[in-house]
Amino acid sequence: MTERETWATRLGFILAAVGSAVGLGNIWQFPFKTGTNGGAAFVFVYLLAALLIGLPAILGEFVVGRRANINAVEAFERLKHPAWTVVGALGLLTGLWILSYYSVVGGWVIRYIFGSATGAYFGDAAGYFASVSAGWEAIGLHAVFMAVTAGIVAFGVEDGIEKATKLMVPSIVVMLVGLAIYAFTLDGSTAAYSYYLSPDFEYLANNLGSVVPFAVSQAFFSLSLGMGAMITYASYLGDDDSLPADGSLVVVLNTAVGLLAGLVVIPLLFVQFGGVPDAAAGGGAGALFVSVAQVFADLGTAGQALGAVFFAVVLIAALSSAISLLEVVTSYVVDNYGYSRPATAFGFAGSLFVLGTLAAWNTAWLTWFDTLAYSVLLPLSVLLGVVFVGWVYGPQAVDEIKKGTSGGETFATAWLWSIRTYVLVGVFVTLYLGVTDIYAAPPIPGL
Ligand code: PHE
Repeated sequence: MTERETWATRLGFILAAVGSAVGLGNIWQFPFKTGTNGGAAFVFVYLLAALLIGLPAILGEFVVGRRANINAVEAFERLKHPAWTVVGALGLLTGLWILSYYSVVGGWVIRYIFGSATGAYFGDAAGYFASVSAGWEAIGLHAVFMAVTAGIVAFGVEDGIEKATKLMVPSIVVMLVGLAIYAFTLDGSTAAYSYYLSPDFEYLANNLGSVVPFAVSQAFFSLSLGMGAMITYASYLGDDDSLPADGSLVVVLNTAVGLLAGLVVIPLLFVQFGGVPDAAAGGGAGALFVSVAQVFADLGTAGQALGAVFFAVVLIAALSSAISLLEVVTSYVVDNYGYSRPATAFGFAGSLFVLGTLAAWNTAWLTWFDTLAYSVLLPLSVLLGVVFVGWVYGPQAVDEIKKGTSGGETFATAWLWSIRTYVLVGVFVTLYLGVTDIYAAPPIPGL
């Protein structure tokens, strides 16, 4: 057996974990889900969820990964609880499901790099989105995105993933800050800030059943939880790292990028449409593309270059997340069945490409894929993980959390009790509400 790779540096791990976390979930999804779920009310629940549920849960995945030092499926066997392997398997399936449509959106981003460079959408940003987001072109670019993802994963953890993500985090922050400041200076953006930042609690109270599951699951999705990704990444981690420190950093950076993307997209939508338009008019899945595209169009020639750079950075963020999704299954198969890394990565990517063609053909399918992931798969997978770490693995998990920290006893105990009690209840309620919700969301309207 060959020796398992480890991260070259602690920074390498943090950047890769942040690289996995920061992606289309923050830049594409968070702003539009905020827009379709009541603005600041959604942001408010999301922030609470990221901090109070997301952080304990991510630490749980770090514990399992580092302790077991193996892929997300066999991890549970190695920890001597083979029945819980089902949690790893569910995470793996959830990740594959998500990657199938994530890649479609990745394809849109590639389209927009070229569309910006040539100014293709400058005349009609909303119309352009409608025409390129579904159909043959979307399928073709979905294939390209999937192939690039598989290519990076094929190179392995250090050469591929670690290098690819080093530049991404700083550049994404710089570009988003620049765009947020620009949006602030535009006429008509002012109303957006109260919509985005000052929660309407009455709205929240009336829509609790939909805002809560979406916001909590958004936190899971965005933190790459419930998909084995953080377990897998932490399995390459040494014992001298402090899990609480690393986990907090990932949560803070990830949340900051999401908030920042909202500060770009929401004000720009207000400038163009006087509010967040409904999904068909560019307020749903198209929000990022339509709103930001208009800025580049207004900037004329300079906008062509800037737009191309912006979408290129978004592409890197999307890729660094996609590779972590594919890495989960690849590392499982490579560890377990001894197939080669490249064959495994490309084999799975090919199958997921086929599944994702549905979502690339029709955005209604994409939305449904997403809804199923949010409402059922993610909360279920996180719930089982939390039960395992809190109630089954319990005391040993505490030992693992303390490793690499000085002291840390109080923190570790508080963490365990949070996982055992309110985190568990919170995730359960999210799942319950999500399942109730999905009955109202047939795959294709009318089905
Ligand atoms: N967190 C990533 C995002 O927000 C998506 C992702 C989920 C990546 C799970 C890896 C694993 O875009």
